[in-house]
Amino acid sequence: TRRITVHDITAAKERGEKWPMLTAYDAMTASVFDEAGIPVMLVGDSMGNCHLGYDTTVPVTMDEMTMLAAAVVRGTSRALIVGDLTFGSYQEGPVQALRSATRLVKEAGVGAVKLEGGERSHTQIELLVQSGIPVMGHIGLTPQSVNSMGYRVQGRGEEAAQQLLRDAKAVQDAGAFAVVLELVPSEIAAEVTRILHIPTVGIGAGPETDAQVLVYTDMVGLTGGKVPRFTKQYANLRQTLGDAAKAFADDVMGGSFPQEEHTFH
Ligand code: KIV
Ligand code: NA
Repeated sequence: TRRITVHDITAAKERGEKWPMLTAYDAMTASVFDEAGIPVMLVGDSMGNCHLGYDTTVPVTMDEMTMLAAAVVRGTSRALIVGDLTFGSYQEGPVQALRSATRLVKEAGVGAVKLEGGERSHTQIELLVQSGIPVMGHIGLTPQSVNSMGYRVQGRGEEAAQQLLRDAKAVQDAGAFAVVLELVPSEIAAEVTRILHIPTVGIGAGPETDAQVLVYTDMVGLTGGKVPRFTKQYANLRQTLGDAAKAFADDVMGGSFPQEEHTFH
């Protein structure tokens, strides 16, 4: 079986098909999602929060991104793998963006990259696409801008809604194959989805986007503490893993592990 390509994603919108995307940060988890039929995986810079122990996505480096994206590519055979360009790796301009994206394509083997920003990232997206690197845009809440933007719903009010529409069109005009809409009112996300010919991928953007993405650690209940209202928890892996660790500890301390069947003579 061949890998899914950006052309398959384009064709899905033409057929009116919805599709799921999950984040992944390691080969083993990615292989599970690949076998489950998840067509697109994002090696998100959410790895900062979910995998590397940072408070935000801001500190994540392209070294970290490249290493984990390579693992996700190795763990999968079918999914389209999209890697995030990290904060500071594309803001200087198109040439810097191309250098970062090229590294991710060559060293990690991703099929596409994602970067944040609409109008403000237009020239970066354009050069990557012209250079043969498929780009997924990301507008609305852009977590790399947490220090200026905070974490609140974007596109509320007429002016902000108009800006979001301009950002969406800028991403599409620059040649992106899809665009993430993060934490925007459902009505605006629906309008963007109607206007654009490229697929919209919603997170906290209501039910009318072409695709939905969740951060996998939230989706499987691995994240400790509070999770955003827009996520849905489909499992409680934090409980399952904790219970397994406690049972192992009890067995070792009580002398009931290992047994004869675990032992060599
Ligand atoms: O890094 C990430 O996980 C993302 C998604 C939330 C879209 O950018
Ligand atoms: Na991200």
